[in-house]
Amino acid sequence: MQPKSNIVHLPVYQPGKPIEDVKRELGLNEVVKLASNENPSGCSESAKAAIIESLSLTHIYPDGASVELTAALAEKLNVQASQIIFGAGSSDIILMTARAFLAPGDETIMADETFSQYKHNAEVENARIVEVPLKDGRHDLPAMLAKVTPRTKVLWICNPNNPTGTIVSHEELTAFMKAVPTDVLVVLDEAYGEFVNDESYSNGVSMLNDHRNLLVLRTFSKIYGLASLRIGYGIGHPDVIRYINQVREPFNTSRAAQAAAKASLADDDFLQSCREANAAGVRYLQEQFDRMGLSYFPSYGNFVMVDVKRPSPEIFDALLRRGIIVRARWTYYPTYIRVSVGTQAENESFIAKLEQVMQEVTV
Ligand SMILES: Cc1ncc(COP(=O)(O)O)c(C=O)c1O
Repeated sequence: MQPKSNIVHLPVYQPGKPIEDVKRELGLNEVVKLASNENPSGCSESAKAAIIESLSLTHIYPDGASVELTAALAEKLNVQASQIIFGAGSSDIILMTARAFLAPGDETIMADETFSQYKHNAEVENARIVEVPLKDGRHDLPAMLAKVTPRTKVLWICNPNNPTGTIVSHEELTAFMKAVPTDVLVVLDEAYGEFVNDESYSNGVSMLNDHRNLLVLRTFSKIYGLASLRIGYGIGHPDVIRYINQVREPFNTSRAAQAAAKASLADDDFLQSCREANAAGVRYLQEQFDRMGLSYFPSYGNFVMVDVKRPSPEIFDALLRRGIIVRARWTYYPTYIRVSVGTQAENESFIAKLEQVMQEVTV
């Protein structure tokens, strides 16, 4: 058997380590996972009720086009239903976008470091990857623009950026969109957009009328707390959405996920309480890092990337042995770890254990 030559070197995606694996491997009873930017408050109660209600029709295929959910979201966002596509998480939209828009040899531009799946899916399509280093942990939009050539098909912007948590402002983004050639598809990934509370932040949906080459991605995995159900969406010009729909698997989102997402959209109180809890968590972590003399990227998401001034794999392992799972190992940031905001008790436990391991692992 011979797989495609361009996938042979690809790593298998390494998710944040599952809690059960860590408990078993290290013989621990208590393990806290602060590695995948999940919502420590869970999901909306009305989403849970909707999931239970959906179970009686488990034997029937879901609505492949997510008609009811699309209508509810279109009304909420004030866009047309033809501007929306759902996927099994926004990861699925990223995969489909690469599949629909990138052919072998096409160029695609992204930041370095950013969410790994832009590069991964572009490599599967055998596109030429152009990575542009972050500047102070932020997307360097002028440098990314300078890399556009007639072969550029897709350009990815993660806002807030994973792993650094930084944002680009509305002003920066509008200037960029005006300058970028209209035949380059700009994918604006707002997986953490609902957490941002900053006047300068751009809402990509508000820019869609002016830019038919803009595709905004969002997810129910983060603030809505539905990560295990796998549901996210893209919003763009109807032509862009149609192209992506042409490569979509027929039943790519489940009935339970659609029902939970629709119920979540109607629960603004849950969203607001998560936003406030997250802001308090980010504030707490950043205050503790200040106290400990550690620098970090000011975060607008539900995670913070902090410089522990020691090789991050060593800190990662030492934390793991104490039952705390974080993320580490970024080429450009060898001494940084990324920690997700947990409950206040989890955040405090993380800080206490980080202080211990900082003593243990010398500079
Ligand atoms: C920036 C970004 N985009 C997209 C995703 C994918 O999320 P999902 O597929 O669960 O919607 C993630 C997940 O961590 C992310 O960090």
